[in-house]
Amino acid sequence: MVSIKSEREIELMREAGRILACVHDELGKALKPGMSTFEVDQLGDHMIRSYGCIPSFKNYNGYPASICVSVNDEVVHGIPKKHRLLKEGDIVSLDAGVIYKGYHSDAARTYGIGEISQEAKQLIAVTKQCFFEGIKLAKAGNHLNDISAAIQSYAESFGYGVVRDLVGHGIGSHLHEDPEVPNFSQKRRGVRLRPGMTLAVEPMINAGRYDVSWLEDNWTVVTDDGSLSAHYENTILITEGEPEILSLYC
Ligand code: MF3
Ligand code: CO
Repeated sequence: MVSIKSEREIELMREAGRILACVHDELGKALKPGMSTFEVDQLGDHMIRSYGCIPSFKNYNGYPASICVSVNDEVVHGIPKKHRLLKEGDIVSLDAGVIYKGYHSDAARTYGIGEISQEAKQLIAVTKQCFFEGIKLAKAGNHLNDISAAIQSYAESFGYGVVRDLVGHGIGSHLHEDPEVPNFSQKRRGVRLRPGMTLAVEPMINAGRYDVSWLEDNWTVVTDDGSLSAHYENTILITEGEPEILSLYC
């Protein structure tokens, strides 16, 4: 069942989203060559708690950290490690969630470490734009999967692979709520969007083919062809007009 949030719930989700945007802004600025993915998680965990929030991901289905840190061919859910050091030329996706007074916000960004290749820059920019292309369709009365179809067609116009095995989701008092929000689909499928729905829209885009696998740790998702992958996500609110992006600005 897809829930419609009350004005009170929406206010709490706005604040959760704003705080998460602050966390992402600060994490993005802190990234530098030589930093371990473990340090990224520690910094993020402390920041989230300093805002009076709880990290949504910590211990979620046994996930051991607060920030998912996924490097290069890692798509999502990379587990932070003391020995995994970021280096010049890497791309790194940071996915984070916060709980503020019982309400979740979920967002991801992909950054380059120092100078990165033109190909990597384009992948990061297109993945971000996939989100914005998708939410152009996030209007009351449209079908949910109109968002998905827009994301897919934009990504594929660059020859990129749209990950099929993971999807976005509804969000609210739980991290994952109905409906699923795929990044690929035919138009005119899925539920009709209604004001008060809150969704985590999260394109996961591979520079190569869309196939992915899970590593032995049962979390880290990697591209099968070894190509780079990027992730961009925000929590949005469906309104009577344009969607409101809750996790964009600090
Ligand atoms: N943005 C991801 C998702 O919505 C984050 C979940 S990571 C987990 O699925 F560790 F919490 F599982
Ligand atoms: Co999510």
